[in-house]
Amino acid sequence: MRRRPGRIVWAVMSPLSVDGSSHMADVEDYVTSNRHLWDEWADIHAAGDWYDLDSVRRGADKLRPYEVQEVGDVNGLTMLHLQCQIGTDSVSWARRGAKVTGVDFSPRAVEIANALAKELGVDATFVCADVMNLPEVLPGIWDAVYTSRGVLGWLPDLTKWARMIADYLKPGGFMYLTDIHPIAKVLDDTSSDLRVARPYWPRPEPIAYGVDGTYADPTAKVSTTVKYLWTHSTGELITAVGQAGLIIEFFHEFEWLDRPWPCLRKQDDRHYVLPQNAGAELPLFFSLRARKPL
Ligand SMILES: C[S@@+](CC[C@H](N)C(=O)[O-])C[C@H]1O[C@@H](n2cnc3c(N)ncnc32)[C@H](O)[C@@H]1O
Repeated sequence: MRRRPGRIVWAVMSPLSVDGSSHMADVEDYVTSNRHLWDEWADIHAAGDWYDLDSVRRGADKLRPYEVQEVGDVNGLTMLHLQCQIGTDSVSWARRGAKVTGVDFSPRAVEIANALAKELGVDATFVCADVMNLPEVLPGIWDAVYTSRGVLGWLPDLTKWARMIADYLKPGGFMYLTDIHPIAKVLDDTSSDLRVARPYWPRPEPIAYGVDGTYADPTAKVSTTVKYLWTHSTGELITAVGQAGLIIEFFHEFEWLDRPWPCLRKQDDRHYVLPQNAGAELPLFFSLRARKPL
């Protein structure tokens, strides 16, 4: 795995610290700050159009067709859903016959997810915990571990994360992950110009980004002003999963992103692609399935 070179000049200054300082806090401090932000976001998301809980109540399925097809039939499977937020995807898997255990570190998100599952009468229960320390509070093994869309950047240590997933899987069970491609994360998500603005190589310290509302509603008011995200490369992810003893069945790369970055062209509400005159072809999203050997 290649490390970040000593000196890099980014095309756009990377917001290593919103106040310009370069202090390193404990990982726990970053995680605590992120948890406060997610508690605020959970309420905004539960009330907003992006997650549209009323449509979920009426039966809407928030899963994307490609992941439903790639995950396959879950009827009768036990599923551990990591970073489940307010439970919209958990509920969808439960409606497809899975017995779901959702995990999220935001107490508010877990409260909303629990209430939603109870109201809908689906087989989904939720645990409030930091996924990096989950084995301390949640014992058990599952047929499937699922985690999706905006998850990896919040995690400081993919090696530990992948080992934990492998330990949680029954022999023959599988993990499925779909998220923003590490290549897309180098792009400037605030500019209409397509340009490299962030590091690609993994680094131990997170990057601090200023917060404007939420990705679901940039105009929403939040009191937390910063989010801390860790950079993970494709090689780091695949190596972590492989070294945890899981057999990678596929790593699919997609040309679209599921959110409206200004440098992308809208195809539909959930697909944004590079402009035709971009002069580049890049993967923006990915999915990975890996299986624990029998
Ligand atoms: C973008 S959301 C998950 C996406 C989910 N597919 C959705 O759209 O609802 C990321 C989730 O990760 C959770 N999260 C972030 N860091 C976490 C951690 N260390 N442990 C557990 N959950 C975490 C947040 O609370 C949030 O609910």
